[in-house]
Amino acid sequence: MRTPIIAGNWKMNKNVSEALELVKELKAIERNKKVETVLCVPFTNLWQVKSEIEGTDIKLGAQNMHWEESGAYTGEVSPLMLKEIGVDYVILGHSERRQYFNEIDETVNKKVKTALEKGIYPIICVGETLEEREVNKEKEVVERQVLKALEGIDTSDIEKIVIAYEPIWAIGTGRTASSSEANDMIKFIRETVEGKFGKVSNDMRIQYGGSVKPNNVSEIMAESDIDGALVGGASLKAEDFAKLINY
Ligand code: 13P
Repeated sequence: MRTPIIAGNWKMNKNVSEALELVKELKAIERNKKVETVLCVPFTNLWQVKSEIEGTDIKLGAQNMHWEESGAYTGEVSPLMLKEIGVDYVILGHSERRQYFNEIDETVNKKVKTALEKGIYPIICVGETLEEREVNKEKEVVERQVLKALEGIDTSDIEKIVIAYEPIWAIGTGRTASSSEANDMIKFIRETVEGKFGKVSNDMRIQYGGSVKPNNVSEIMAESDIDGALVGGASLKAEDFAKLINY
């Protein structure tokens, strides 16, 4: 059985005091204990959010990291720095990083390897643009992203990886993939992983992301292959985020 995982990606939102306010509110709401809850917060909030979630089952995530342990990489954050704070998860290859910050499959792959080596669970984002979907290239694109991200990964590490299928046209647009479209792609991702790594693909969790809201979450989570959600906008309010966890 795969444990459902609902992760909030705050993106570039919330200063420290706003972050702590949200976490306090979230802690005060009854949450489904069968769901793994993750908060992927800006680097500047990691330390304080970590102390605020101490003693709860809420996990901490970062939104990016460098693949090297240290060095002359101005403005970057290393996996060891994340480890020191006690970060559990790291989002890698988010479409916004691919789109605005030159993230490519090769760097995602390096980061995935380093994360696994350091004991941080990667949440690898994949997904096609609207143009790619309109010319029926979505599976080709997603297959390439998945296989490149997982190149050279040990079969025994596959179960530690989370993949988030986030069609770019559904991010922040209010337009979600239909739950069956999302499930179809997520099944395809699992088959792709199975083709390369075998049956461990059944232990890997695959989330859907893109305009997941309290009013559509239960339909999405009812699908056979969708193991959770990576949530932007609706993770910025404790009440909404808790509704997602309690789908
Ligand atoms: P929204 O939920 O705001 O569409 O964002 C999705 C996303 O990019 C999560 O990583």
